[in-house]
Amino acid sequence: MAATRTFSIIKPDATRRNLTGAVTKMLEDAGLRVVASKRIHMTKDQAEGFYGVHRERPFFNDLVAFMTSGPVVVQVLEGENAVAKNREVMGATNPANAEEGTIRKTYAESIEANSVHGSDSPENAEIEIRFFFKPEEIVG
Ligand code: CMP
Repeated sequence: MAATRTFSIIKPDATRRNLTGAVTKMLEDAGLRVVASKRIHMTKDQAEGFYGVHRERPFFNDLVAFMTSGPVVVQVLEGENAVAKNREVMGATNPANAEEGTIRKTYAESIEANSVHGSDSPENAEIEIRFFFKPEEIVG
């Protein structure tokens, strides 16, 4: 089966605790390959744009404040069924509901500071990858 791609963010709670390598290892151990990666400090505009679908949600302002509170690592991950595989290794959005052995069960501090973001569909993966990466920055 052909390799597909998904988009991932290692969030500020994880970079603050120096967990970039530990989280990336869990992604790699799940069979995903990092084909693009950069550490950035998101601007308010970027965070508001990226999470635009959540604009009307009560947690939107807090989410934007959190995502701009420190550095993040944005990544493109490649593998068979990359979107589904990444969602499996991330675990549920709320770490209280996440399965043992998942990134969020292992590392997340709360539903907001939940260590990682991953695209929820192949269509959104394309949009999210394009939001942060130029094609030439992705080397498969
Ligand atoms: P993420 O996958 O990055 O997508 C939206 C984020 O909003 C989500 O992970 C959570 O970190 C954050 N969030 C904060 N509060 C909530 C909530 N009540 N429900 C869902 N997501 C929340």
